[in-house]
Amino acid sequence: VSVKQLLRTSYHFQPSKNWINDPNAPMYYNGIYHFFYQYNPKGAVWSNMVWAHSVSKDMINWEALEPAIYPSEHFDINGAWSGSATILPNNKPIILYTGLDHKDRQVQNYAVPANLSDPYLRKWIKPSNNPVVNPGKGVNASAFRDPTTAWWLNGHWRMLVGSKRNHRGIAYLYRSRDFMYWIKAKHPFHSVPYTGMWECPDFYPVLLSGKEGLETSNIQGKPVKHVLKVSLDITRYDYYTVGTYLTAKDRYVPDNTSVDGWAGLRYDYGNFYASKTFFDPAKKRRILWGWVNESDTTEDDVKKGWAGIQAIPRTVWLDPNQRQLMQWPIEELETLRGKNVKMRHQQLKTGDHIEVKGITAAQADVDVTFYIPSLDKAEPFNPSWTNAQELCAKKGAEVQGGVGPFGLLTLASKNLEEYTPVFFRVFKSSKKHVILLCSDATSSSLMDGLYKPSFAGYVNVDLADKRLTLRSLIDHSVVESFGAGGKTCITSRVYPTLAVFENANLYAFNHGTETITVENLNAWSMKKPRMN
Ligand code: FRU
Repeated sequence: VSVKQLLRTSYHFQPSKNWINDPNAPMYYNGIYHFFYQYNPKGAVWSNMVWAHSVSKDMINWEALEPAIYPSEHFDINGAWSGSATILPNNKPIILYTGLDHKDRQVQNYAVPANLSDPYLRKWIKPSNNPVVNPGKGVNASAFRDPTTAWWLNGHWRMLVGSKRNHRGIAYLYRSRDFMYWIKAKHPFHSVPYTGMWECPDFYPVLLSGKEGLETSNIQGKPVKHVLKVSLDITRYDYYTVGTYLTAKDRYVPDNTSVDGWAGLRYDYGNFYASKTFFDPAKKRRILWGWVNESDTTEDDVKKGWAGIQAIPRTVWLDPNQRQLMQWPIEELETLRGKNVKMRHQQLKTGDHIEVKGITAAQADVDVTFYIPSLDKAEPFNPSWTNAQELCAKKGAEVQGGVGPFGLLTLASKNLEEYTPVFFRVFKSSKKHVILLCSDATSSSLMDGLYKPSFAGYVNVDLADKRLTLRSLIDHSVVESFGAGGKTCITSRVYPTLAVFENANLYAFNHGTETITVENLNAWSMKKPRMN
C-alpha cells in the first residue's frame, strides 16, 4: 500500500480519486439504487462541479458510471450544483438541480433519463425549456439553490429551494401542475432569522410510530409528522426540526418541543453535511445520505489525490417520544462483517483499558452494551453547559469522572500516542440525568495542521434500565458512532500516523470512579466491498 493511501477508507462511499461533496438525488429505480454526488473531475479541491453517478444493488457495493449531469448549456455552463430526484407517478424519474448560468446566477433546471429502458440510466437529457425556475425579483441570485424532492398535493407539485435574505435563512416554496411551469408561493414555506443561507433543504413525512418510511407525497390519512432539515453554512451542521405540515396554508410549523436554529437537533454532531433522504420502496424505509468532509489540510488532500467521503447510508425514523429522529446504518452493511470477537460481562474499573483483540481494528464494526450498576457517583451537571462540544473539550476521556468517561478507544496505537475516544459521561441534574456522548479527535494524530475537534452531543434517554449502547463504524480515517440505538450520532475524521492497518488497536475503557460492565460487545472485521 502506498503511503498516500494509508488513510483511504475501505467501506465508505468514495470515488477512486478527486474531490467530492454533497449527495445528490439518491433514488431507487427498477431494482437499482442510484447515487449522484458533487464531484470535481479535475482535482482534489472544490471546483468544476459535475454530477458523478454510481449504481448499486445494495448501497454497499458500487459501480461508477460516467457523470450524469455536467455543464454544457447556458443554464448550467458555470456548474451543475446540488439537487434531488422525484419519481413521477408513471415511474419516471426526474431530477431538479441548480445550474450556475452564463451570468453566474443560480437557476433551477430539470433533467430526465434519455432512455428509461437502460437499467443504469446512464444518459440524462437537459431539455431546452430550462431553466424552469429563475431567481425572480427580490430573490438573491447567488443564494438560491438545492431544490428538494417534489411532493404532490391537491393537484399541484410542490418543492423547496434554499435561500437567504439579509441574514434570514429561507426555504421558498414553488408549485407546479406539470413540473415545468413553477410559481413561487406568496409566503416562504419556512424561515428563521439570523441563520444565514439554507443549503440543501430536505422535507419529508415520518410515521408517528414504527420504523417504516413514507414516500414523500404519501401522507393522506396517515398519522404523520414532518421533518424539515437545513444545512447551515456558517457552522456547517445539518439541523432539523420535527413539526406539522399545515397543508391548507402550505406552511411548516416546528413543534414547540423542537428548537429551530443553532440550538436545534442535528442529524450528527460531527462532520456530516448537505445530507439528503429518499424513500426506498424496495424495503419501505427512508434513507439518509450525508457528506463527510476532510479535516486535514488542502495541501494534504492534493497530495492524497482525493477528498471527501459519504457516511454509511442510515435508515431514519421517528423516535417513539416523537421529539427527534432515530438513525441506524442500513442493514446491508452487515453483509461486510467478517471475523467476529466478543466480550461479555467484562468489568471496567477506574483506569482500565481492555483490548478487543483479534479483529482488523482499523476497519471494523463494533457494537457494545454497557451496564451501569449505580448512578450515585454521577457528577453534578451545571445548567450553563449548553454547548456539548465545549463540555467535551473541557472533560475529555482522560479527565476522571464519576459515571464515565467510559467507552471505546478507537484507532489507538500500542502505547496510546494516538487514539480517538468515543465515550459517555453521565451527569446528575435536578430533574434527571444528563448524558453526554463525545467523539474526541484531540489525541487522534501526531500529524500537524489537522482540525481535531471534540465533537459531542447530548443523548436524550432515561437510564431506567441502567444501560447505554454504542456502535462505532471504524474505517481508517473515519469513526462514525451511534449512541443509544441511534439517538445521537457523531462522525469524526481522523488521520493517525501510527494507528494504521495492523498497528491500529481497539480498547474498552473507563475513567470514572464507578465500575462499568461491558455486558456485551461484538466487534467484526469488515470486508472491502466493490467501491467504484
Ligand atoms: C453545499 C453546497 C450546495 C451547493 C453545492 C455546490 O455543500 O454549497 O449549496 O449546491 O454545495 O457544490
